[in-house]
Amino acid sequence: MRPVIRQLDDMAINRIAAGEVVERPASAVKELVENAIDAGAQRISVDLADGGKTLIRVTDDGCGMSPEDLPLALSRHATSKIDGSDLLNIQSFGFRGEALPSLGAVGRLTIASRAEGQEAAEIVVNGGAPGPVRPTALNGGTVVTLRDLFFATPARLKFLRTDRAESQAVGEVIRRLAMAEPSVGFTLRDVSGGGAGRVSFRADPVTGDLFDALRGRLAQVMGPEFVENALAIDAEREGFRLTGYAALPTYSRGSAVAQHLFVNGRPVRDKLLIGALRGAYADFLSRDRHPAVALFIDCNPHKVDVNVHPAKSEVRFRDPGVVRGLIVSALRHALAEAGHRASTTVASATLGVMTPERTGPARVYQMDRPSLGARQASYAAQAPGFAEMSTAYSGRVVEPVLPQTPQEDVAPPKDQPLGAARGQVHENYIIAQTETGIVIVDQHAAHERLVYEKLKHQMADRGVAAQALLIPEVVELSADDAARLLEISDDLYRMGLAIEAFGGSAVAVRETPAILGEVNAEALLRDILDELADQGSSALVQEKIEAILSRVACHGSIRSGRIMRAEEMNALLREMEATPHSGQCNHGRPTYVELKLSDIERLFGRT
Ligand SMILES: Nc1ncnc2c1ncn2[C@@H]1O[C@H](COP(=O)(O)OP(=O)(O)OP(=O)(O)O)[C@@H](O)[C@H]1O
Ligand SMILES: [Mg+2]
Repeated sequence: MRPVIRQLDDMAINRIAAGEVVERPASAVKELVENAIDAGAQRISVDLADGGKTLIRVTDDGCGMSPEDLPLALSRHATSKIDGSDLLNIQSFGFRGEALPSLGAVGRLTIASRAEGQEAAEIVVNGGAPGPVRPTALNGGTVVTLRDLFFATPARLKFLRTDRAESQAVGEVIRRLAMAEPSVGFTLRDVSGGGAGRVSFRADPVTGDLFDALRGRLAQVMGPEFVENALAIDAEREGFRLTGYAALPTYSRGSAVAQHLFVNGRPVRDKLLIGALRGAYADFLSRDRHPAVALFIDCNPHKVDVNVHPAKSEVRFRDPGVVRGLIVSALRHALAEAGHRASTTVASATLGVMTPERTGPARVYQMDRPSLGARQASYAAQAPGFAEMSTAYSGRVVEPVLPQTPQEDVAPPKDQPLGAARGQVHENYIIAQTETGIVIVDQHAAHERLVYEKLKHQMADRGVAAQALLIPEVVELSADDAARLLEISDDLYRMGLAIEAFGGSAVAVRETPAILGEVNAEALLRDILDELADQGSSALVQEKIEAILSRVACHGSIRSGRIMRAEEMNALLREMEATPHSGQCNHGRPTYVELKLSDIERLFGRT
């Protein structure tokens, strides 16, 4: 029997299209809220029941539709947003004219709407063909109600997650659209079980210039800590503009949940953009940390194709290299300017840990601060031997590292924000006194950063200085690993690491980077291999080199546990001040935290 070719009916066509457009309640909400924004709504509210499985209702105060428009809105490929003559000039969220017919094909859909100067009308479609247009009561705008999503396609129902998970996904969609439209007010309400429901998200319209409005909205959506710890970005290159906020590396997250990218106002999940973000932060974050950003790329619509996927979450740039370069350079530049600023959450988290728990009314021990001399005299008088005892048991403060100068009268110079070293504790932390408080430096993390920046500099200038080994060190590897290293031996050579094949699967190391001093060549090679494996083949050469340098730096850094002399500590502090990006180590952890005197006083109830 020869197969028969037949034309599918509209119902089947719409269900097939729905498969692509409406994957879960969150995608239905996305389509409906985008329609409301396209209609010029100022306020949009979304009601959900049972994670959107039984009810999704989107109410807007936009331009509405006339009674004659309603059947058209439900017919496939009918749209008011483009005329079809220029598919590259798209200014609205919607343009395909298939969201409403798709939703009508897989659920019970009711659209009630009223355009200015028109009667209010409503149309119903239950899993297929639309019913007649009927008059209804509505002051203006549009209310779209979608009940029993996927009742017409039960196979889909089985793929839905728990109500909670689906609600969460809806919340994400609304938050993202809320970031894109700061001047529109959004409310998300859970009305499961009937009644007025519970508001689970609310963002009131914000006004002001671009950055003020965005900042206000981001604080509402991502939390005030995000904007406090983020850098404003505003850069342009060849017709592309990048604006928004990018968080300091020390405010990074364990997953990509806080990465929000927009192209011409449309939230997107785009591999190119995410890769560019990773490149921009590669210097500051380890692979398992993800930067938090809300970034907006705007360009002439002709430079980007949004018609790539029915859900429109992917885009294609005509010139991806420019966009990538813009993101990487703008973010790196901003991060460099932020210099050694570590996120405020680091200091406040420290304080949070240190603040004594208060039960009942705060007890405040007020006393006048006696001079050091008076204090010692009084200790001596109260308990003979106490003064000596306190120095004899000074714990892990290592005596010889204390600065020679008497401490009481040396104020650290104003131009040294990291202050003067006062001592080293637990063989890893330098305590320094600054003009306004104290700074605690993680010596290993800080030094690693300095070595890394130095290596990078050297390499850019003239290649890293190498030091020849008297006897080449032969390292046995797997044949694959050896081949992978030898493949990049030219790059490694520029980094001061000279290797060559040594028969079979062995590699001989002839020179190592001079800055590292004596290193374990085998450990270094294995680390570089790990880095290559992490980076895979996708990273650009430059990124790979930087990642490798960062591993190399770790080998040459002052270990935790090394006792440092006062001059050494002060030299480290001065170098940190002079070095870009010294506020975080190569893995995005802070290299120091600062406690203001006022914070310390707060800890002791002295406010
Ligand atoms: N909330 C609304 N207020 C006013 N008009 C609306 C609203 N929702 C839909 N419409 C009208 O109905 C039409 C069809 O909507 P639908 O979402 O199906 O397609 P679209 O938005 O044009 O394109 P896409 O399929 O890409 O979303 C829209 O073009 C618009 O004219
Ligand atoms: Mg639409």
